[in-house]
Amino acid sequence: MWSKQSVIKTALGQESADIIVYNGKIVNVNTHEIMNGYSILIKNGYFAYVGNNAADGSISDNTLRIDAAGAYITPGLIEAHTHISYYFKIDEFVKYAAASGTTTVITETSELGNALGKEGIETFLNQAKSMPIKLFITTPCFAPLLTGLETSNSINSDDIISFFSDPRVLGLGEAYWPKVVYPDERTAKLFEAAERYNIKLQGHSAGARGNKLNAYFASGISSCHEPITPNEVMERLRMGIHVILREGSNRHDLKSVTPIKDMISDFRLLSASTDGINAADLIKGHVNIVLERLIELGWDELTAVQMLTINAASVFGIDDKIGSIAPGKIADLCIVDDISKFKPKTVISNGRIVAKEGKIAVDIKLKEYPESFYHSMRLNKLKKSDFKYEAGKTVDAIMLGKEFVAALTRINRTKAPEDLLFYAVFDRYGNNNAAFSYLIGTGITSGAFATTLNWDCFQLAVFGRSIDDMITAANRVIDMQGGIAVVDNLSVIADIPLSIGGVISDLPIVKLAEKEQAAENALINIGCKIENPLTRLQTLSFTGLPFVKLTDKGLIDVKNRKKLNETKDL
Ligand SMILES: [Fe+2]
Repeated sequence: MWSKQSVIKTALGQESADIIVYNGKIVNVNTHEIMNGYSILIKNGYFAYVGNNAADGSISDNTLRIDAAGAYITPGLIEAHTHISYYFKIDEFVKYAAASGTTTVITETSELGNALGKEGIETFLNQAKSMPIKLFITTPCFAPLLTGLETSNSINSDDIISFFSDPRVLGLGEAYWPKVVYPDERTAKLFEAAERYNIKLQGHSAGARGNKLNAYFASGISSCHEPITPNEVMERLRMGIHVILREGSNRHDLKSVTPIKDMISDFRLLSASTDGINAADLIKGHVNIVLERLIELGWDELTAVQMLTINAASVFGIDDKIGSIAPGKIADLCIVDDISKFKPKTVISNGRIVAKEGKIAVDIKLKEYPESFYHSMRLNKLKKSDFKYEAGKTVDAIMLGKEFVAALTRINRTKAPEDLLFYAVFDRYGNNNAAFSYLIGTGITSGAFATTLNWDCFQLAVFGRSIDDMITAANRVIDMQGGIAVVDNLSVIADIPLSIGGVISDLPIVKLAEKEQAAENALINIGCKIENPLTRLQTLSFTGLPFVKLTDKGLIDVKNRKKLNETKDL
């Protein structure tokens, strides 16, 4: 039977509602106003009626009555762009996100695509079905980004296109602009298929401006989350591009882009998201924190709510289904005393109460991961002879700079800084590739660090002052079937197991946050001076950032998309 039949009848008073929420100040994001004296009827997961004169018969003894007691009632919050398909299990994520007022998330899945291939994304979509909030995805676009210059457990374009018919697949994610402005066959094939399936094209236009930016958007790209200055935001808005501002564990852009609020008078094309969150931050909240931050920076309260609800839904063309409290929309709402301190007393998702007083109020059962995901390290334990370095006077080293930039520099070893480290990347997908270089700029003066949490290919990266410490760190990670290890004097002083595909932890969020903190402390103990090191060190091999990266295939000049000479001592 048509699911809306009962919803219509409830509005007419011919059937009774499942829930009535009354005595609240409804935030109407369609009109940017507060509505007092209205009640909300929910039936079969949908809003059936929003008004001040509910029909007789629409409320019965079976209707759950929720007195909002004068509090605000906002639509459930929506995250338009993030990366929650890896690192923590999604049931763990959902517990905290739902309790913070999030009822819909659209997440990138390039991590799963790169580390676990097509099966990784299929597993996520299967697991998402049993979650009490809505999880949509964008598929990876280029996995890996620089084909031939890096290796991942990648999926091909036919695999990606096979997902397009799933209604929970909303977009093709993070299409790096040079690959679109100068498209190869793969890009053309993916973009043509996306257009055919009405899949949104999500942008990644960092560094593009003027004609190139115009050319990029001429491809049909409809959103971008990369602008970090008001002018960059403005340039994109003027081209009709939806801009997703970022405030999360990796990016803190809101302060720098905030002047845009005084440069425009129409905010329909603006939303905000975390673009990724770590365990320690998730314990404190989710996109409610982004909302609070906007208001703290002087944004209008109702505009901020619009950005995190109806505007976020509109990015992917689902604002006819979610994002506002209105008849026929999916019943997602938050009851909250103060919008500027967004701590929901009650969260309703899909027409049922999922969280109360900051705690999840439903049982969540996660479908198991396939057994093979727990055995993703297809390489032998490392030994000294696996590290192919030659003695010499000068070496090329990757120098970490500000933000996430890494450039090449030449170091005379007799006058080398104390933090000159050996740096190696080993393939872990059974291809036997390995590459060797040096690294400076971490501040690390002893010990070693190894990780598979290494965008986007999630290969095993290891660096350290001594090869022996590097072997200890790398082998701990291999033993854990993926993860992070910090070593000093041949002892593991901290680790984070990511035993599911080398990218997802089995641990509860609180435990994971403790492990995160311990790993950061351990890095400081061996001299690390990088701010937010666990995030920063995820970008070591990431070819989406400038200028020089070490992948399993060697030293890569990212801008010119070519391999540099193997690092050899001279
Ligand atoms: Fe992102």
